[in-house]
Amino acid sequence: MGESTIKWVMNRMPRTEDTWLHTMHPDEIRKVRAFHESFPQYAKTPLVPLRHAAKTLGLGGLFVKDERHRFGLNAFKVLGGSYAIACEIADALGRDIESTGYAELTDERLRAEFGGATFFTATDGNHGRGVAWAARQLGQKAVVLMPAGTVKSRYDNIAREGARVSIEDANYDECVRRACALAGQTQRSFVIQDTAWAGYEKAPCRIMQGYGTMAEEAAQQLREAGFDRPTHVFIQAGVGSLAGAVAGYYRNLYGQDCPKIVVVEADAADCHYRSALAADGQIRIVTGDLDTMMAGLACGEPNPISFDILQNHAACFVSCPDCVSADGMRALAHPQEGDPAVVSGESGAVGMGLIRAIMTDPACAALRDALMLDESSVVLLFSTEGDTDPENYRRIVNALPADCKNQPTD
Ligand SMILES: Cc1ncc(COP(=O)(O)O)c(C=O)c1O
Repeated sequence: MGESTIKWVMNRMPRTEDTWLHTMHPDEIRKVRAFHESFPQYAKTPLVPLRHAAKTLGLGGLFVKDERHRFGLNAFKVLGGSYAIACEIADALGRDIESTGYAELTDERLRAEFGGATFFTATDGNHGRGVAWAARQLGQKAVVLMPAGTVKSRYDNIAREGARVSIEDANYDECVRRACALAGQTQRSFVIQDTAWAGYEKAPCRIMQGYGTMAEEAAQQLREAGFDRPTHVFIQAGVGSLAGAVAGYYRNLYGQDCPKIVVVEADAADCHYRSALAADGQIRIVTGDLDTMMAGLACGEPNPISFDILQNHAACFVSCPDCVSADGMRALAHPQEGDPAVVSGESGAVGMGLIRAIMTDPACAALRDALMLDESSVVLLFSTEGDTDPENYRRIVNALPADCKNQPTD
């Protein structure tokens, strides 16, 4: 029973000087969005309204940003890697990113001026695919390391982009260290990692800014749908770069009216939840196999930059067993009559599973009250990936609901 428990804690960590919040300022994100818009493959991903589900769950609105459609890559992650790679190239040429969009980056003269480089990264799948795709688009090489247990479909997707890929006998966090070591032995190399550490901050900040395009689109689409702002945003976390980016952007955009940011993790890798539980402002690390089907969330070491933003601006941290995500996948695949279906993978659907548990499971009543979720609430979810593991996706959405009884905690 313990393993199928949703655990949560409200954010009572001490506030810091908030030195990273400016990274996600809307003025910065406007530049990032203009960069992404310069790609011929760019299109806004849909913001899907689940009107009937909202009503049934007792909410005022429920919206899912469907990142399956991002650049045809089945996940949001390319937003970060593409922006960080482009910024490295612009820096090397002494140019401004505002004048270095897709047309310039693919121009023969600029390519000849920059020459060739190799971009290294470690990934559970989606970030590496984005880096490999962007490197290929810009005529560069990519080397991608993947953790033990990586499924073949995710490996193949990266290899297909022309990158050199390996599955290591190590978890994600160790793969990051190995990617850096390999880059250190390679001429003209860049590490494009979606997490930061002391002395390695520029690329991860740009990756976070890259995710800002998604947050900006969603805010704009919500306004177009007649809602000034969401009241609650559920955002899933692996290393937390995504969650920090979303929290930081919305805090900057909405100011004191910022929605409640709910950070959602896989219980096998719930480093943010554990850090928030300790409530002393120190990061807690989860080690070992990080065994969860939510592969994108299987990271045990928080990015200290995004952690700082979350420490100051997240409302709540939640640790979820796999069955919560499975429930979300099924609910999005087989929606209530009148609502559109969303193809959402393991790391994408956990927010949907969680809002359903919070609004319907008596064991989650205390969490519902703590978050003040009711019929006036407008909840924004991010389905950050589609069926990136198609076999497991089919198995889950065609299965009967598994037993996922929750115990009240906090
Ligand atoms: C589909 C998906 N969702 C969410 C995340 C979490 O992002 P982050 O590691 O920045 O917390 C990832 C990370 O790879 C992912 O692939």
